[in-house]
Amino acid sequence: MGTNRGDALRIAQLTDLHLFADASASLLGIQTEDSFHRVLDLVRHTFPRPDFLLLTGDLSQDGSSASYERLRQALLTMPMPAFCLAGNHDCEARLRRILPTACVLEEQHWLVLMVSSVVPERVHGLLSEATFAWLDAQIAANAAKGVLIAFHHPVLPLGNQWMESILLHNSQRFMHLCDRHPQVKVVVNGHAHQEFDVLHGGVRYLVAPSTCVQFLPHAAQFQVDRQAPGFRLIDLWADGTITTTVHRVGAHLFQPDLVAGGY
Ligand SMILES: [Fe+2]
Repeated sequence: MGTNRGDALRIAQLTDLHLFADASASLLGIQTEDSFHRVLDLVRHTFPRPDFLLLTGDLSQDGSSASYERLRQALLTMPMPAFCLAGNHDCEARLRRILPTACVLEEQHWLVLMVSSVVPERVHGLLSEATFAWLDAQIAANAAKGVLIAFHHPVLPLGNQWMESILLHNSQRFMHLCDRHPQVKVVVNGHAHQEFDVLHGGVRYLVAPSTCVQFLPHAAQFQVDRQAPGFRLIDLWADGTITTTVHRVGAHLFQPDLVAGGY
């Protein structure tokens, strides 16, 4: 995969779209199809253009073929490729049948690995033994490259008490893998519907806002946030450094249901 800006690989991360079979349906007061298209327009007008889109799960709220098919059509209108992975709300088999996916993307200086952290019928995440073995082998085979690993469930607690039981359950094991391979520079997750950017053990842990409803950061109990839908831009530089920014649509375009008690 080539880059379009000097020596940076530019990724636009979009996550937690929560699309429905019915394009007019809402989640917590936000029409998810509408907000996704607003965010996609922001991406379309981003310059320099991202090299690819990385969609990190909960692409559908109901796992329906109709929602995936409409998403496929929307992604085809973009001037760059898109790669999708599943979240807890998705039907992983259907997603993989309808949407573009990849496990490995290679560039001169960077290796991007996409894995599944989904446990069927569960909200929390887990990486399987096979996934750990695969990650070890991929990273070891590309010893000279910086590595980005993407999956749905965040590894580190974000500071929301209510969310802690639904994060990645084998996060210690994952951090040990990162310790063994210092070339793992950045981990990219969704699921939390809020932005997060923490350097831990030499690894940059990033979470992007949802393209629909946001959850209030640092909340003990579930609380909808009034922040706008958005996406995260990630630049991976040839020297191993990472720069990233979050971009959101206009603040007054969407009015979420602030008194909702769950989702
Ligand atoms: Fe999720």
